[in-house]
Amino acid sequence: MSSYVNMGAGALLGTIFVLMSVSIASEGLFHSPAPEKEGYVIAAAEAPAAGGGAAAPAAEKPIAELLAKADVKAGETIFKKCAACHNAEKGGPNKVGPNLWGVVDRPIASHEGFAYSASMKDFSKGGSEHWTFENLNHFLTAPKKLVTGTAMGFAGLPKEEDRANLIAYLHNQADSPVPLPTN
Ligand code: HEC
Repeated sequence: MSSYVNMGAGALLGTIFVLMSVSIASEGLFHSPAPEKEGYVIAAAEAPAAGGGAAAPAAEKPIAELLAKADVKAGETIFKKCAACHNAEKGGPNKVGPNLWGVVDRPIASHEGFAYSASMKDFSKGGSEHWTFENLNHFLTAPKKLVTGTAMGFAGLPKEEDRANLIAYLHNQADSPVPLPTN
C-alpha cells in the first residue's frame, strides 16, 4: 500500500517537475530578446496592402529623412552583400538576380532577359508598380515579407541606415538619377 502512495507521490512530483521545466523553458522562449525591428518588419509588410500611397507606419522614419543623411560610399560597401547575385553597372549582366542599373523608379520585374518569379510579377501589377524609394526600403527590410514567394534568397537589412545608404548608392547607379524624395 505504502509503495502505491510512494509511486503516486513520485508520479505527482515527476509531473510537477515536467510542468515546471516546460514553463521555465517557455518563459525562456518568450522572454528571449526579440529582434529589435520585428515590429517594423511586420508594419513594412502590411503597409502596401493598406493601399500603396498610405503614410509609412508611425514607428518608421520616412525614407526622405533617411536619404537626406545617407552615405553613398557606405552604401557601396553594403552592396557587397548583394553583389553575389546582382550587378549594378550599366549594361552589366543578369546574374542570379537581375541587373540593378537604374533600378530606382524602374518598373518592377521589368529587366530584359531576366526570368522573374510569379510572385514578383504579381507584385509588379502588370508593370504598373515601380521601385520607388519606399518600395525599395520596404523590400530590402525583409524581401520575403513584402513579396511572399520571391526568388530572392536574402534575409533583409534590418538597419534603416544601411538601407538608406544602399538605396542612395543604387540611386546614383543610373543615367539620370530621379530626384530624391522630399517628404
Ligand atoms: C542570393 C541572391 C540574391 C541576393 C544576395 C540579393 N538578391 Fe536581389 N534578387 C535576387 C533574385 C533571384 C531576384 C529576382 C526575384 C524574383 O523574381 O522573385 C532579385 C530581385 C531584386 C530586386 C527586384 C529587381 C527588379 O528588376 O524588379 C531588387 C531591387 C533587388 N533584388 C535588390 C537587391 C539588393 C539591394 C540586394 C542586397 C541587399 C539583393 N537584392 C540581394 C537575388 C538576390
